[in-house]
Amino acid sequence: MTNEINIAADLLRKGSVVAIPTETVYGLAANAFNENAVMQVFEIKQRPLFNPLIVHIKSIDYLDTIAFNIPPIAYELANRFWPGALTLVLEKKSNISDKVTSGKPTVGVRVPSHPIALALLESLDFPLAAPSANPFGYISPTTSDHVKKQLGDKIPYILEGGSCDKGIESTIIGFVNDKPVLYRVGAISKEEIEKCIGNLEIKNTASASPDAPGMINKHYSPKTKFIVSNNISNTIKDNINLNVGFLLFKNNDEYLSTNKYIELSAVENLEEAAKNLYAAMHKLDAMHFDIIFAEKFPEKQLGITINDRLYRAQEEHFEYKKINSN
Ligand code: TXA
Ligand code: MG
Repeated sequence: MTNEINIAADLLRKGSVVAIPTETVYGLAANAFNENAVMQVFEIKQRPLFNPLIVHIKSIDYLDTIAFNIPPIAYELANRFWPGALTLVLEKKSNISDKVTSGKPTVGVRVPSHPIALALLESLDFPLAAPSANPFGYISPTTSDHVKKQLGDKIPYILEGGSCDKGIESTIIGFVNDKPVLYRVGAISKEEIEKCIGNLEIKNTASASPDAPGMINKHYSPKTKFIVSNNISNTIKDNINLNVGFLLFKNNDEYLSTNKYIELSAVENLEEAAKNLYAAMHKLDAMHFDIIFAEKFPEKQLGITINDRLYRAQEEHFEYKKINSN
């Protein structure tokens, strides 16, 4: 592995981009201090320039190299959840270019917990700006194979790190007058964060100019028409004879043939379901169904994060607006 990490590190030092594993999803990484490298990330992903990148650092000790005016609660959160799937949005220092933050005065930052990502960061003397390694708007990658299929011809190297442990993006928290605000539900549930810092306001917005600009409606989408169902048993009954696929928490319909569905957790475990979610979406999308129906998850813990991604993947966003408004 050391050899592969060295190859990735050398490319990054030369200003190239590299796909890297993290515990959430694979990232498309560039030297956060090199504007040209950062611009390549936007270019390869076809990502709109208004959508800032997350900067990955090697440890909490590095935080004040790129951020300042850090609220005490941010340190509390970082101490509790780093290395891990929590991104903090903080005031940026001038060494972080406006290109990284899309002109915002703040920078999103986290310490990933994937051992390979950490070893790579340790070997570099700069942090890594990295969004998820998927073409803009498409499903995030949780294996190197997903990256290869989607962007393989555009990037010089994919650092292998197995399948991502969490399988869903980091939770993003920003601060308004030092008060924490949840910008994106993610791999660490709101409940878990509230155990650490108390009540957390949600600003997980899908408006035209949201605080976390990546949170525009259509996102994480398969190419196949994708619909979330509140009553999956009825939806299965109504569509059983059509060319449709089902994305299920757990399959309870014994008459459903195995080539028509993927179940995310046979034991109904939300962590396991989150881990399997994107791989299942990639797989169903490749099966050429006319429609994919996804079962709505229980609105608690990681079920909230999974529902967020399912509704964003849905073509019509009426349901998403409904859950977002309560
Ligand atoms: O788990 C993750 O966060 C993965 C891995 C690779 O670390 N990265 C990821 O990046 O999901 P991306 O680019 O797909 O999503 C980053 C999100 C976007 O919604 C973006 O708007 C938000 O982070 N973001 C980044 N910097 C921000 C800032 N300064 N203020 C508000 N939102 C920010
Ligand atoms: Mg993304």
